[in-house]
Amino acid sequence: MPNDAVTQLRTEARKALDAAPDQGALDAWRVDFLGRKGRLTGVLRGLADLSIEEKKTVGAAANALKLELEEAFDARADTLRLASLTKSIETGRLDVTLPERPHLQGGLHPVTQLSRKILDAFRSMGFSIIEGPEVELDHYNFEGLRIPADHPARDMWDTFWVDEEVDGRRSILMRTHTSPMQIRFMEEHKPPIRIAVPGRAYRFEATDTTHEWMMTQVEILAVDEGLNMGHLKGTLLDLFRRLFGQERQIRLQASYFPFVEPGAEVAMDCYVCNGKGCQSCHGSGWIEMLGAGMVHPEILDSMGIDSRKYTGFAAGMGLERLAMQYYGVPDIRWWYQNDLRLLNQF
Ligand code: DAH
Repeated sequence: MPNDAVTQLRTEARKALDAAPDQGALDAWRVDFLGRKGRLTGVLRGLADLSIEEKKTVGAAANALKLELEEAFDARADTLRLASLTKSIETGRLDVTLPERPHLQGGLHPVTQLSRKILDAFRSMGFSIIEGPEVELDHYNFEGLRIPADHPARDMWDTFWVDEEVDGRRSILMRTHTSPMQIRFMEEHKPPIRIAVPGRAYRFEATDTTHEWMMTQVEILAVDEGLNMGHLKGTLLDLFRRLFGQERQIRLQASYFPFVEPGAEVAMDCYVCNGKGCQSCHGSGWIEMLGAGMVHPEILDSMGIDSRKYTGFAAGMGLERLAMQYYGVPDIRWWYQNDLRLLNQF
């Protein structure tokens, strides 16, 4: 009779095992038949009530069944695992003949591209590329450049102030040009100096087709013995010829910037009409490119650079207007509207 119970248990266990459809059912099966409170354990516990003779046969049969079921369990688990793998390979199969999903390709902004061209030109002329802070002190943006508070020249740079007024004055601002890096650099370095400074500058201005409240500038500064306007002109001419063609000419017209003496507005003959006058240059034949000049001797001296021995030249250009010329874009605001119909063209 007890041996019958083992046989019976075997039949049931094998049947249930073969029917277990997945890992969950398999785990439940194991608890049910082989677990600590499972049915096989029940049989083994029941041995205590049997005669010695019966204990021998039933015990041996039950132990053999235990081993058999454990092996059968492992085999079934393997079968199920293989089946589910096969299924997932079949249903998840990649169709390599499908066309790929379109993906967008990024690119450098046209103003960045132009900036890199300009910096490459200056680098090859021996200038180092230096960057500086966009949030700047009045000291560097104005005072150190000979533009004291209440100086009328401050009107040239409408300013975004960052800090609150103290005693009617504020001292932290968004730099209105990259010129403050001239002062920062000369504070730390002595001649010979040759730097090009790319970066953002900000103006508190209403926007229109040629004005934006943010712009990208490149500033250059060179200080050495014997530098003169000829070096300035040659440097700028070389830059514009690289960008706009070897036949370009430039023109320097006297202008005023507090940090240079003399100061100049630099224009280039129009590369569209070669100076004859066209729509692109508003009929004048010339395109205004940048401000420049010889570094004011007072600035050199205030930096501890002897202005009797050293001279310097400086220039600053806004890239967005230049990029409008370069790429033929009619509205400066388009550069930063992130309209892919425009940007994808570059
Ligand atoms: N910083 C001036 C501006 O943004 C441009 C400029 C003029 C820079 C003359 C110079 C310079 O270095 O010498 O309006």
